[in-house]
Amino acid sequence: MRYAAQKGTKDILPQDIYRWHKAEQTFAEVCHSYGYEEIRIPTFEQTDLFQRSVGDTTDVVQKEMYTFDDKGGRSITLRPEGTAGVVRSFIENGMTSLASPVRMFYNITAFRYENVQKGRMREFHQFGLEAFGAQGPEIDAEIISILTVFFDRMGIKNTKLCINSIGCPTCRKAYNDKLKDYFRPNLEKMCDDCKSRFDKNPLRMIDCKDDRCKAFAAGAPRLIDYLCEDCNNHFESLKKQLENLGIKYEIDSSIVRGLDYYTRTVFEFKSENVGTQGTICGGGRYDGLVESMDGSSVPGIGFAMGAERFLMECEAQGIEIEKPNYVKVYLASLNDEVKPFISKTCLELRRAGIGCEQDLVGRAFKAQMKYANKAKIPYVIVVGEDEIANNKVNVKNMADGSQTEVALDGIVSFFENI
Ligand code: HAM
Repeated sequence: MRYAAQKGTKDILPQDIYRWHKAEQTFAEVCHSYGYEEIRIPTFEQTDLFQRSVGDTTDVVQKEMYTFDDKGGRSITLRPEGTAGVVRSFIENGMTSLASPVRMFYNITAFRYENVQKGRMREFHQFGLEAFGAQGPEIDAEIISILTVFFDRMGIKNTKLCINSIGCPTCRKAYNDKLKDYFRPNLEKMCDDCKSRFDKNPLRMIDCKDDRCKAFAAGAPRLIDYLCEDCNNHFESLKKQLENLGIKYEIDSSIVRGLDYYTRTVFEFKSENVGTQGTICGGGRYDGLVESMDGSSVPGIGFAMGAERFLMECEAQGIEIEKPNYVKVYLASLNDEVKPFISKTCLELRRAGIGCEQDLVGRAFKAQMKYANKAKIPYVIVVGEDEIANNKVNVKNMADGSQTEVALDGIVSFFENI
């Protein structure tokens, strides 16, 4: 029997991994330049953590979680996103007492049982970050700017930033009443999920994926028209800060995000190249989340970017990512007798951090040269008994064919200096 990768999962093959490395390294560098440090969180958490934070009326919790009982009878869930785990870690590790803002970034796999299509996987990767303890809109603008700097550094152009405010529990309460008045006459025609969301969390009815419900939701009142004074000031100030930084945005009142913890600022970067939903990245503020998870009252904000979708965007925009050549030199053997010498020389080169290769499968000399050429190894050294006896080799530069004579015992320093 031949096995196949599970639906919605994908191998990232060695020939493609350099693109991932480039994006991961650039994201880490940009985050570091803003004072963020990396956090690594576990792949699974207790199920209740996601139910409480992401929210039990969301599609993610109701339909998409990989949940199972472990052998000890605990209900475990593979993380569908990173924020809940980071918030849990922030509280559990006493980070509430650290100087604000506490800033962390991550690069994780996430798992959602979704209908698989372009840009929508069951196991996918997220580059994300979370910042705790900053109340004002300055940090909202700053984390959005992190994304624009990352896009610039990767050469990505023309992504569309959409922002919205979904207010705080105070404005949400008045709005929920308006929303219920709006949906009530048609409630019977809506899906069962929406019927139960009507009482528990009517905001979720706005991002229902059912076509019948989408049509009703299109004309629903907009939360942005019901913001309280504080939320409105926060949003107005954010807009000014983005303008000050020269970051273009559109206000899109349909963005409510699919997770329950958000308050005030929410945003998404969109592009047509990454699938039907077109969202490369989404995030926002979650000022009540830490407190609701038994922590102290600490505001938070963050975002996560789908790595697959981001790389899809790079490809669609024709971004060329250079493939690094980790192997600098190939040591070709003219006969078997010189192989022990080559092995020792390779070991010395590698100890000095210089990538090299030798023949491991018994290729004839010509085939070795062909292999080195095909593998695009930039330098080749041919080693025979004469070279060893004379303590001299020619280092061939494969790009221009030039040769440099080097003493055998000087190979390491030669490569250290080019
Ligand atoms: P999210 O919008 O659920 O937010 O996911 C963030 C990004 O992950 C999406 O914009 C998309 O690029 C990618 N993504 C989501 N689901 C899939 C999927 N099935 N296949 C491929 N890519 C996917 C969050 O996860 C929040 N935790 C973001 C956040 C952090 N908010 C505050 N802090």
